[in-house]
Amino acid sequence: MDTPHGTREAHPSEPDHDHAHDLEGLDPRFFAHAQMPCNVGRPTRWDGRALGVGVCGDSIEIFIEVADSRLNRIRHLPKGCVYTVACGSAVSKLVQGKPLEAVLQIQPEDVARELGGLPADHMHCANLAVNTLGEALDDYYRQVWGRPAKAEGR
Ligand code: FES
Repeated sequence: MDTPHGTREAHPSEPDHDHAHDLEGLDPRFFAHAQMPCNVGRPTRWDGRALGVGVCGDSIEIFIEVADSRLNRIRHLPKGCVYTVACGSAVSKLVQGKPLEAVLQIQPEDVARELGGLPADHMHCANLAVNTLGEALDDYYRQVWGRPAKAEGR
C-alpha cells in the first residue's frame, strides 16, 4: 500500500498511550507520519534486525536489507506512543535507499527535523528510532563479518 512517504506493508501497532492532550502545536509533517506511517511491516527476509526498547516501555523493531553498501529497504514495527510511530516512519523515510555511510550519519535531530520538530520530552522517541537503526546496522555487519551466509528469514 502506497502512502505519501513510500510503501506500507501492514498496519502499525496501535499507540498504547494517550497523547491527545500534548499534540497541540505539532507540525503537519508530524501528523502525516503519525497517521500514515511509511515502511511499516515485518519483511520475510532481512540482512539486519534490531528490537529497541525505551525506558518508557515503548519499542520499535527495525529490519534492513542491504545491497552494494546501500540500505535498499527498511521496515519497522513501532509499539507504543504516537511519537514512536512518527519517529519510526521518519527515520525509515530518511534512510531508505541511502548509502550506508549516509545512514550511519543520521541523528535524532534529523528525525525531529523531518517531523517539523519534536517536544523536548519526546526527543527520546527519536533517539530510540535512531539507536535501533544503529543496532540493526550492527546486526548486519555482524552477519557480513561473522558469517559468510546472509541472514534469511531469521
Ligand atoms: Fe518513549 Fe515514545 S514515549 S519512545
